[in-house]
Amino acid sequence: MSDPAKRVVVCPGTFDPVTYGHLDVITRAAGMFDQVVVGVVNLPWRKGSTVFSVEERIGFIENVVREIENITVEAFTTLLVDFARRHNAKAIVKGLRAISDFEYEMEMNQLNHRQAPEIESVYLMASDKYSFLSSSGVKELATFGGDIDDLVPREVATALKERLAR
Ligand code: PNS
Repeated sequence: MSDPAKRVVVCPGTFDPVTYGHLDVITRAAGMFDQVVVGVVNLPWRKGSTVFSVEERIGFIENVVREIENITVEAFTTLLVDFARRHNAKAIVKGLRAISDFEYEMEMNQLNHRQAPEIESVYLMASDKYSFLSSSGVKELATFGGDIDDLVPREVATALKERLAR
């Protein structure tokens, strides 16, 4: 349980795998709030199976944020708002890329707000170089031997090439 005096936020996602776009949002959130809890969705039946296990997805993030003291990473298997409540989070922080994200996030925002009106959702606009970066795009590139070295951490790029390259 987090210290109630701290401004805690959660940064949720499937992170299959984490990209520099996600890491940009997570580290910017860490600069704005006292504590960031990265929540990695662990619901195997949701959106089909993931390329990486939840342990692998958590490990990829931890290996990058290890030095940043106010970021922790953990799996969750509940409603996002219940995960946020468990951590006494004041807000859910998400990245917004192109306008195509807006509709989905608007829906999630309303669902989450209906369940937990006391928890705000805060959106950080994606940095321009990551505006069109997605985990699914990176997986597609990796499958066909594209260059992904500028899009994901080195460990992730190596793992993706091993797992997906045809
Ligand atoms: O796009 P992602 O990475 O799969 O997003 C996952 C998440 C949890 C951020 C998004 O689905 C969301 O905001 N869900 C709210 C509804 C909820 O709590 N669902 C159960 C956990 S997925």
